[in-house]
Amino acid sequence: MKVRKAVIPVAGLGTRFLPATKSIPKELLTIVDRPTIQYIVEEVVASGIDQVIFVTSEGKSAIENHFDYNFHLDAVLKEKKKVVLGEELNNISNLIDIVSVRQKKPLGLGHAIWTARHVVGNEPFMVCLGDDLVLSKIPCAKQMLDLFDEVGESIVAIQRVPQSETFQYGIVEGEKDAHDRTFKVSRMVEKPAPGTTDSDMAIIGRYILMPEIFSILDTTTPGHGGEIQLTDALLALTKKRAMYAYEFEGTRFDAGDKMGYLKAIIAYGLRHPGLGKQLLEHLKEIVAGQ
Ligand code: G1P
Repeated sequence: MKVRKAVIPVAGLGTRFLPATKSIPKELLTIVDRPTIQYIVEEVVASGIDQVIFVTSEGKSAIENHFDYNFHLDAVLKEKKKVVLGEELNNISNLIDIVSVRQKKPLGLGHAIWTARHVVGNEPFMVCLGDDLVLSKIPCAKQMLDLFDEVGESIVAIQRVPQSETFQYGIVEGEKDAHDRTFKVSRMVEKPAPGTTDSDMAIIGRYILMPEIFSILDTTTPGHGGEIQLTDALLALTKKRAMYAYEFEGTRFDAGDKMGYLKAIIAYGLRHPGLGKQLLEHLKEIVAGQ
């Protein structure tokens, strides 16, 4: 069955970026010339997804506006004969069909995904977390969708992390599978206490999920941090159906963390066709002057 929909939770408060996020959603913080959320939406579009479902909350309407047509701005740009810029803005509003649902209470990632159940319906779907940006030749979502075509079961994207960092992630345990870079999941735990798992396979914010996850989330009780955790529901899903962990090809940036965000700006800046060379020269000058 084709995966047509991507759920992107954008309801979080962004407290790690205060005061920048006092009145601006963290998803709209800029990496070079576009907000972080646009990179995620462009990734799913490039991967063949047809519809994005934002799980939003109060104060996040600027995200929907970003992907909407802005009649006033378009008229002004036309009047000023700024054709290229006008076209670029219209392309954003034509990127993909977007639907929003509201998460009324901040009860956790599992609850945010559950909030989208009626819009997703009874079909497999993607989940992309807005903090995780992946630079890769083939979009991370596309790599996973290609694997899904072969295995037809839930997939979580993983990367290896040092043992000292496992407590910051959902951690997966499993055995190598016959497919390239793929593991059959046997156990998973959200933000494990140090020493409680030997695995270094950390979930990053890309998932393909079977719709059974919703009935599991109906009854998932609060877990780590008192929140309804997606990882807990995923573990329950592994008891009913197979689940795979996929070590994607590419570099992931945690744009929800200050250092990760700075690294992303540099990495995307260096790849920018109009700015990359100059930025590299500038960085070299800074380093030479240290
Ligand atoms: C969430 C998930 C966690 C995953 C992480 C990836 O945690 O709950 O399993 O490893 O995203 O970014 P968060 O970073 O929102 O606390």
